[in-house]
Amino acid sequence: MRIPTEKLNEVSQANNIVDVISQYIPVKKKGKTFVALCPFHPDKNPSLHISQEKQVFFCFGCKKGGNVFRFVQDYEKISFNEAVLKLAERVGIKIAFKKGDVDISNEISKLYEINKIAAKYFYNNLLNIKGSEKDFLNEYFKVRKIKKNTIVKFGLGYASRGWNNLSSYFLDNTDFTIEDLRLAGLVKINEKGSFYDTFRGRLIFPIFNENDKVVGFGARKLFEDDEIEGKYINTQETKIYQKRQILYGLNFAKDSIRAKDFVLIVEGYFDLISLSQAGINNVVATSGTALTLEQLKLLSRYTQNIILNFDSDIAGVKASKAGIQLILETGMNLNIITLPENQDPDSFINIYGKDEFEKLINKKVSFIDFVSSVYKKENKLNTAEEKTEFIKEIISFIVRIPDKIKRAFYIKEISTKYGLYESDLRDELEKSMKTYRKETSTKSASSFINTNKKLNKESEIQKVESDLIELFIHGTPEAVEYLVYNVELDFIENEIVYNIICKFLDEYTNEGKIDVAKITNDLDDEKAIQLISEKSVPRYDLSEYDDFDRHTLIFSVTKKNIDYLKAAKDLIKKFKIVKIRKEIEELKKKGNHNGILQKQKEIKEIQKSED
Ligand code: CTP
Ligand code: MN
Repeated sequence: MRIPTEKLNEVSQANNIVDVISQYIPVKKKGKTFVALCPFHPDKNPSLHISQEKQVFFCFGCKKGGNVFRFVQDYEKISFNEAVLKLAERVGIKIAFKKGDVDISNEISKLYEINKIAAKYFYNNLLNIKGSEKDFLNEYFKVRKIKKNTIVKFGLGYASRGWNNLSSYFLDNTDFTIEDLRLAGLVKINEKGSFYDTFRGRLIFPIFNENDKVVGFGARKLFEDDEIEGKYINTQETKIYQKRQILYGLNFAKDSIRAKDFVLIVEGYFDLISLSQAGINNVVATSGTALTLEQLKLLSRYTQNIILNFDSDIAGVKASKAGIQLILETGMNLNIITLPENQDPDSFINIYGKDEFEKLINKKVSFIDFVSSVYKKENKLNTAEEKTEFIKEIISFIVRIPDKIKRAFYIKEISTKYGLYESDLRDELEKSMKTYRKETSTKSASSFINTNKKLNKESEIQKVESDLIELFIHGTPEAVEYLVYNVELDFIENEIVYNIICKFLDEYTNEGKIDVAKITNDLDDEKAIQLISEKSVPRYDLSEYDDFDRHTLIFSVTKKNIDYLKAAKDLIKKFKIVKIRKEIEELKKKGNHNGILQKQKEIKEIQKSED
């Protein structure tokens, strides 16, 4: 039996940890914190500390820690579920598999709730519509070869024509206001101040985040006489829908991407769902925006291998080239497939079927062959000048690859393919590298992506790392938001810290806040739970912290008004500097003095900068 997380949270919220522990052992209040003799090891001075605010305990002696469930579980030596049931009973909560009331206490959870209701509304509308509209939709799906199962899987919906269908539904059936709907991008307000639905007479594609929550909608025009707006319109950016951060279909594709160890990137909604309908599931769609580093970062958690499949028209080729550059910079592996003229994956798979599409995948080419095919198609590979231009363009791609050995292989490849001296190519590469390095900022794409990261479970947790956790837990909303947008996973070396920070980011994205007692409910790693608990309990009365580094963050210290935002900014700076210092160590080994000077300058600039 797995108790739903919402239920766990409900039970832990209703059971104040201080009250519960007090039922078992004497607890004393000491300033802001509560202390007790630890029941889990022979304890002379109270070393068990309990945070009322964070609802966790931690023993500075034996390092046991966690939320209220863990205490009861360990004290009574019962299973986790038994502890939950016991505590549920204590406060009169029934553990049934029925969802509790939804939390709409902050803007983010409100947005999720609104999007969920709207998605259900559009979906039910599509299934229940009657009369001529139904006939029209049936015909549309028939022509586009979309099956019922596919509609269900992707939760497709229909926004009827008319100005206020969705908004009336919300006003009649929920407590949300027009202003709420406007913030969610579902209604617009005209100059006269009256409101109307954003999506009218359109096929609706709910857009999910990685955790299967609806964050927005794509909507395709269905009636050709609707001329004012484009073929597709999308939800505007909201707090939960940031286009740079979302890949359409990733939630459906992630298992398949992992299993196949590659991902196919296509452009359109229909491309993705038609491929999926045909049984090709390791696909994501950029939905008409240029590929971003953030999207690649998402993908890098599942695979390092990318196959790009963009349209073969001029715009498609342009988009591919920008995408190619970005992917190469991240160090991920890249191949490209091209479709016959005037086809997209949706039309191709519906005409030729899965086997033919898989043949195309097997015929994938490197970016070198892709660029060369573009030159050939444009008939620009004839004279020495044209060929030189081509080789130079290829080299301008190769310089972006962070791995030296990989670069060498590509140089070898073009040398063999085009009968050129490797040494000439290397000279050109060298020249190109210099300009490229000057142009690009210090923040390289590869550092952004989590490629083969050497995380270390045993490595000592750095001061900056533990400060980061502490600041996430205790910081003001502005400080936490700053951290969310500025922390780079690449900063972190310790695996436990890495997992905790990922969890924090996840939690923030989904809930808009970080609730540690809740987070410990879904962490499995004992050490991670310990660490979070340790950082959550106030520690100002612990004498062993007397020699505490004065420049670091001291929370819960008697000093009340800590400028958390400033602390967050300082911490991010520190991370950057720690990282550059490590690079300097590397450069020292190589005796690269210019490089070292350059890095030292970077450090000075970071120290000087305002943010
Ligand atoms: N797109 C968009 N706005 C537009 C046109 C396109 O956001 N005005 C996005 C959509 O996500 C679309 C993708 O770009 O799926 C690719 O566009 P396009 O190739 O024009 O459309 P298709 O996906 O082929 O759509 P359809 O097959 O329905 O014509
Ligand atoms: Mn299409």
